[in-house]
Amino acid sequence: MASHSSLWLLAFALLPWSCASWALGHLDPPLPLVLWHGMGDSCCNPLSMGAIKKMVEEKIPGIYVLSLEIGKTLAEDVENSFFLNVNSQVSTVCQTLAKDPKLKQGYNAMGFSQGGQFLRAVAQRCPLPPMNNLISFGGQHQGIFGLPRCPGEHSYICDLIRKTLNVGAYSKVIQERLVQAEYWHDPIKEDTYRNHSIFLADINQERGVSESYKKNLMALKKFVMVKFLNDSIVDPVDSEWFGFYRSGQDKETIPLQETTLYIQDRLGLKEMDKAGKLVFLAAEGDHLQLSEEWFDAHIIPFLK
Ligand SMILES: *[C@@H]1O[C@H](CO)[C@@H](O)[C@H](O)[C@H]1NC(C)=O
Ligand SMILES: *[C@@H]1O[C@H](CO)[C@@H](O)[C@H](O)[C@H]1NC(C)=O
Repeated sequence: MASHSSLWLLAFALLPWSCASWALGHLDPPLPLVLWHGMGDSCCNPLSMGAIKKMVEEKIPGIYVLSLEIGKTLAEDVENSFFLNVNSQVSTVCQTLAKDPKLKQGYNAMGFSQGGQFLRAVAQRCPLPPMNNLISFGGQHQGIFGLPRCPGEHSYICDLIRKTLNVGAYSKVIQERLVQAEYWHDPIKEDTYRNHSIFLADINQERGVSESYKKNLMALKKFVMVKFLNDSIVDPVDSEWFGFYRSGQDKETIPLQETTLYIQDRLGLKEMDKAGKLVFLAAEGDHLQLSEEWFDAHIIPFLK
């Protein structure tokens, strides 16, 4: 008998602690995870989001992972990442999350590339269900000013988008129909950006301070920003850590802490920084290139 019970103990000791406690009913099941893919990608591509979903499910037994599909088919999902108004994408996602009974107690969120700033908009606009940790992989929190390369096989779309952005990113028609225009940030024409950007200027409180955006963002436990040191897609790469070009030119960049957004604390980022809620991670490699070892060491702890 005695040897039996010690075998049981050993078996539990081999399970990760939280998992064993969950099995014994001492802890809640792991917090669900919501993923939002990047430009030109879809919810369920087996080489990108599909693989990440599967990997997380293997590492955190029992976790519920929802990879957001924007549209009714995978093709629509990809197309919408270029051409569906971000504000309507965000409100659709907010409804999806609110309707999902598995997310009632809250969730962690991981956004990939533009999905990073889109999920931040979800955190700021839709406090229920509550987002616990937000992890942004190469998200462009101060926008982009340039489109040097496009991921995947969409280079013809990219050429078209690049031309359109250069001609009239801030025209009303383009703002409402082109996703990348909605986070286009021209540092030389800050005034035009501030007045006409329908998405990024809004969530970054460029036109005035919404206390609810601030309060909701500050409700996050951690806001983790992963920057890719060898990123050849995002311009400027500093945007991945919420930095940007110093206003009035497009050569010199400044970190978040030197931006007026931070100094005036329009979004609560300064307060979050002082409270240790902002986590700045750097990964070697090109845009969204992460090894499983790096993910295990740096990301998994925020999901448990
Ligand atoms: C931006 O809006 C302000 C206030 O309405 C106005 O004074 C300014 O001329 C506008 N600038 C541009 C470039 O749209
Ligand atoms: C990536 O960038 C870092 C920092 O800029 C540099 O030290 C490193 O050599 C680069 N690695 C590769 C593989 O290019």
